[in-house]
Amino acid sequence: MADIFPRLWYPLSAAGATTGLILLFRDYIQGERCPSKATMEGKTVIITGANSGIGKETAKELSKRGGRVIMACRNMNKCQEARDQLVQETGNQDVHCQQVDLASFESIRKFASRINKSEPKVDVLINNAGVMRCPHWKTADGNEWQFQVNYLSHFLLTNLLMDKLKAAEQGRIINTSSIAHAQGNINFDDINSLLKYEDVEAYMQSKLALVLFTLELSKRLEGTSVTANTVYPGVTKTNIGQHRLTKAQSIMTKPFMWFTLREPKRAAQTGVYLSVAPEVADKTGKYWKDTVAHDPAPPGRDEDVAKKLWDLSLEMTGLTEDFSRNDQSKEEKAS
Ligand SMILES: NC(=O)c1ccc[n+]([C@@H]2O[C@H](COP(=O)([O-])OP(=O)(O)OC[C@H]3O[C@@H](n4cnc5c(N)ncnc54)[C@H](OP(=O)(O)O)[C@@H]3O)[C@@H](O)[C@H]2O)c1
Repeated sequence: MADIFPRLWYPLSAAGATTGLILLFRDYIQGERCPSKATMEGKTVIITGANSGIGKETAKELSKRGGRVIMACRNMNKCQEARDQLVQETGNQDVHCQQVDLASFESIRKFASRINKSEPKVDVLINNAGVMRCPHWKTADGNEWQFQVNYLSHFLLTNLLMDKLKAAEQGRIINTSSIAHAQGNINFDDINSLLKYEDVEAYMQSKLALVLFTLELSKRLEGTSVTANTVYPGVTKTNIGQHRLTKAQSIMTKPFMWFTLREPKRAAQTGVYLSVAPEVADKTGKYWKDTVAHDPAPPGRDEDVAKKLWDLSLEMTGLTEDFSRNDQSKEEKAS
């Protein structure tokens, strides 16, 4: 019996050390936690796609911090289920579901009109909803699905809510993009991929468009108290891969995913930080990863492309006057 302990000691300590290293590595992969303890009391946040994944975890954390949380989702059953869970877990009753389908401009206009009537101000707008590498679908407005859902609809929504963001003491716009923007290209000759559709290229284009949107928007917001930033949450275990993996593939890759992908809760941390932290109140036009501001990849820094995309987006969304022109006319009226 006495012999067993020395014989077991080595394999057991090796197994313990390996497990420890695996857990340490996994924790490192998960990324930084939000370093700010600031509350959201008295603040209103709108989060698109808040019923699942990163959006849901962001909604949960901001609910915990006492914010008025508006979950902007397309499926009201899923939204209500997520909302009930958040209310139960956080004790915050000020969490609400509002219907919006980003594949329809009409739906966005209706949503924005309801918000503009019901809310005196919007402190934080998190443009989070997204779809990745879906088939070549067209939206109700005839646009390529990923370009509209991920980018164009958020462009429209942001413009329509701008007065409410400006009514906040310090409004914050957070666009959820991806490292995929680095490989992206805005194909002005075939923006809706009518000539050739590659699901991955369309995803990269939409995520680059969000980064360029942040760039142009932050310039247009100079002199106001509203900031615009991009967040990259990291590669995360969510439903975003639903168009790429079959059920069987998802099950088979589960252990690998557990090891290498982020949990949505940790992936949400940078967006939470940008929503709450007082020290980022004057930070704008940046690309944030793991709670640190970076410059985006070169395609995301092209000011000419950003301006051209802005003008095209006005045309495609049918916005006749964007908020910056409104400001100009207000200034003209005042002088
Ligand atoms: N997961 C990653 O590795 C990763 C990496 C980089 C960036 N991101 C970005 O992070 C964001 C959140 O994605 P996630 O990973 O949390 O994926 P997710 O779990 O699939 O969440 C996506 C959310 O977007 C909503 N949505 C999709 N189409 C919509 C539409 N037409 N109208 C309104 N809402 C719509 C979904 O609603 P339904 O539930 O009704 O479909 C869902 O709530 C996305 O912008 C994604 O591109 C994710």
